[in-house]
Amino acid sequence: MKDGLEDVIAAQTMLSDVDGNAGRLVIRGHTLDDLVQSSSFEDVAHLLFADLFPDLPDAAALAAALGSARTKIFRHLAAIDPALLTLSPVAAIRALMARIDDGNDLVTALQLLAAPAVFTAAIIRLRRSQQAIAPDATLSQAADFLRMASGRPPTAEQTAALNTYLVTVSDHGLNASTFAARVVASTGAGLTSSSLAALGALSGPLHGGAPGPVLDMLDAIGNPRDAEPWLEAALARGERLMGFGHRIYRVRDPRADALKGALRALAASGQVVEGRTELAEAVEAAALSLLKRKKPDRPLDTNVEFYTALLLEALGFPRETFTCVFAVGRSAGWIAHTREQALHGRLMRPQSLYIGPATKVPHS
Ligand code: CMC
Repeated sequence: MKDGLEDVIAAQTMLSDVDGNAGRLVIRGHTLDDLVQSSSFEDVAHLLFADLFPDLPDAAALAAALGSARTKIFRHLAAIDPALLTLSPVAAIRALMARIDDGNDLVTALQLLAAPAVFTAAIIRLRRSQQAIAPDATLSQAADFLRMASGRPPTAEQTAALNTYLVTVSDHGLNASTFAARVVASTGAGLTSSSLAALGALSGPLHGGAPGPVLDMLDAIGNPRDAEPWLEAALARGERLMGFGHRIYRVRDPRADALKGALRALAASGQVVEGRTELAEAVEAAALSLLKRKKPDRPLDTNVEFYTALLLEALGFPRETFTCVFAVGRSAGWIAHTREQALHGRLMRPQSLYIGPATKVPHS
């Protein structure tokens, strides 16, 4: 038995390849660097969905259909009641997504791709007692999501930064949430059931729940010169440093660099609070040197969540919604993996090792 299924290959996929020793992510034959430089989120969704839906249109038509799906999904906001707004944002969008009928077709897929953006933007506003803003089907997912959340047209740099984020997190091998989606798909259940299981897995602090605590850590440190003593004390208390370490990567997570680049571009156009990037870079440097010293046997480097936190903060998302924003990007991967599993996989039903009490033999 392998604890945590470490190194176990549990599925075949044509969707993405994570090379943990080289620090490389490939999505359907394209490196992450190439995709970040030249593709919209819609292009990457089209790439992931290819051969998995019989009626998949070309990339431009898929983008237009996603815009229409946002408009349709907006109608589900009528189901929001005051009790739903007291839930955490991830629990609130999960409850709303559960109302989407379970199917395996492209219409369901597009609704599930549109839903996290529309619902997260609405939840952000309603929790502030502001009105939800209806989608604009002519915009890209990144631009419309920013507009619906903030109530203002985003700048070109903001749209580019969010697009980079959504592309960067769109798929990543058999991570915990994608695995959960594939297990559900393997039973013959549909896309909504799989996406809901995946969203539940994503919400944990060891997976998609890390970036909020990254910002808490930066706030607690406050000043670059306090980084080292603060981090050392946290490690001495046995705490994990959020935004560092990964099950697969033994070198730097390539997604961290893609997001750091996006953050720098935003900062260059004056759209990041002054001093924030410098604080983050000082904390990162101190954390890496401490982790190397304190955990010499385990290579621990920066993961995707560290710069996710900085980037989403600069884009104006409240930290309690970061996991929901992650879901906006990762939904593309969840949907593709669900379809791949349904079309080509078998029921996933592993064995367990019984370690309970021995069988009691009844006295005769
Ligand atoms: N800070 C301090 N020590 C760490 C950290 C960390 N961030 N990550 C791992 N370690 C140590 C851990 O304490 C253990 O040490 P020891 O053997 O002395 O007990 C050793 O490294 C191995 O840890 P593990 O728990 O067996 O490793 P894992 O592969 O199960 O954990 C991880 C991977 C991401 C859960 C872990 O690195 C972690 O908790 N990181 C912090 C949370 C975080 O940033 N999560 C986002 C992950 S990236 C997003 C995604 O792709 O989902």
